[in-house]
Amino acid sequence: MKIAVITGASSGLGREYAWAVDNFRDDIDEIWLLARREDKLKEVAATLKTKCRVVKCDITDDSCIKEYVELLQSENAEIKLLINNAGFGKMGMFYDISTEDNAGMIRLNCEALTVITSVSLPFMKEQGEIINTCSIASFAPNSRMAVYSSTKAFVMSFSRALRSELKSRKINALSVCPGPMETEFLPLANIGKGDSKTFDTLPRDNPKRVAKNSLKASKKKKAVYADHIFYKFYRLVAKILPTRLVMKMAAT
Ligand SMILES: NC(=O)c1ccc[n+]([C@@H]2O[C@H](COP(=O)([O-])OP(=O)(O)OC[C@H]3O[C@@H](n4cnc5c(N)ncnc54)[C@H](OP(=O)(O)O)[C@@H]3O)[C@@H](O)[C@H]2O)c1
Repeated sequence: MKIAVITGASSGLGREYAWAVDNFRDDIDEIWLLARREDKLKEVAATLKTKCRVVKCDITDDSCIKEYVELLQSENAEIKLLINNAGFGKMGMFYDISTEDNAGMIRLNCEALTVITSVSLPFMKEQGEIINTCSIASFAPNSRMAVYSSTKAFVMSFSRALRSELKSRKINALSVCPGPMETEFLPLANIGKGDSKTFDTLPRDNPKRVAKNSLKASKKKKAVYADHIFYKFYRLVAKILPTRLVMKMAAT
């Protein structure tokens, strides 16, 4: 059975990925939706044509990961598409953000993503695809998002190195870099209107477009994808200019 696994599928971009896989992929028998809120996952599943499995799972919890692996084994699943999308951020001075949140971002955005990838790879074959939800925050360090931007720099670096390693197995890893999207992420990150001049003025990415177009980029075996022209340009600028200048431009 060929499956797509999507973490953080209960809302925002992950939910859009579920809809995009449902509508634009005909090589998937079942979509596995992972997140903590089972009720929200069931709501998403009810809207899909493709067969779905709701997997209530805190991906930072070892016992949930064990259950996920046992499920993969018992279902004899082949993962065609792994979308590592679950993540959260907090904006604020490092010392004002709780230790729990600072460590929690690393645990979810870096450690859990690494663990899920590690346990999923044995279930992937040639032509498999991994999509890692990264961020424009990976292009340069961001003050007032010190830990979050560092976690996304990890995702970018990990994803690119993994892609290179997996070339011989014909598996691609794509790093997707959205700008701000109007999902549950922003209020959870304490980013509301008036909280940051930069966030108030940055163009919004459309999660539906990001999901659909990044799936196409993944099929084309790209390494990095930014949807909005503004953020394609920012990525280029961040590569050329000295980091301290980019940090000034992107200061939140
Ligand atoms: N929105 C933006 O401005 C923006 C910009 C750039 C990048 N991103 C990235 O995009 C990704 C998706 O975020 P979003 O904007 O769609 O925000 P969102 O709506 O808050 O979605 C986050 C998802 O992660 C899941 N999640 C959180 N903790 C989890 C855990 N311990 N175990 C399993 N699932 C967990 C949440 O589900 P449950 O609460 O049900 O577990 C939810 O489905 C994140 O990686 C984020 O860093 C977002």
